[in-house]
Amino acid sequence: MYSNWEELTKSIQGCRKCKLCNWRKNIVFGQGDINADIMFIGEGPGAEEDEQGIPFVGRAGQLLNTALKALGIQRENVYIANIVKCRPPQNRNPELDEMQACLDYLRNQVILVKPKIIVLLGKVALNNILGSQYNISKARGIWVEKKGIIYMPTYHPAALLRDNSKKIDFWKDLKAVKQKYEEMELV
Ligand code: URA
Ligand code: SF4
Repeated sequence: MYSNWEELTKSIQGCRKCKLCNWRKNIVFGQGDINADIMFIGEGPGAEEDEQGIPFVGRAGQLLNTALKALGIQRENVYIANIVKCRPPQNRNPELDEMQACLDYLRNQVILVKPKIIVLLGKVALNNILGSQYNISKARGIWVEKKGIIYMPTYHPAALLRDNSKKIDFWKDLKAVKQKYEEMELV
């Protein structure tokens, strides 16, 4: 683990710890306020993210942006990262060896950002961070506290693009995040 941001970002340059390095254009490390109170964790870069090297800039990202704006949360005031930093080919799910190889970067990001709240976007983030026993449709909307951080699992924005009806719960969950955040600010 690196104790400062410069060393951590340097350590991922040219990473070849898993086979995803063979297809990526850019490593998508993360974006946002490195002192954020709220952190979002997604799955892995898509095509647009791979092009730009920035998380959540494609269609799913636009949906996330819209939700943040509606909540009155500035995207630049949160920190956004993914389980894997390189795009899986054809946007397939990241494989176990890839997630295991990459997860230390994310753990280090969490240690350095020290968020109060982490929003887990979708089942890949949920199962990697809180454990494989969780099911996204049962766990979503329910806070989980672990080592001083509270986690809100919710649907991945890409899932909302496939199934519109999930938008209602997604919105509910993000409202709960906003509300919790405001309560925490008062203490
Ligand atoms: N989906 C993700 O999980 N992460 C991104 O950065 C973009 C789409
Ligand atoms: Fe390295 Fe992660 Fe990219 Fe794999 S996905 S090559 S571990 S940065």
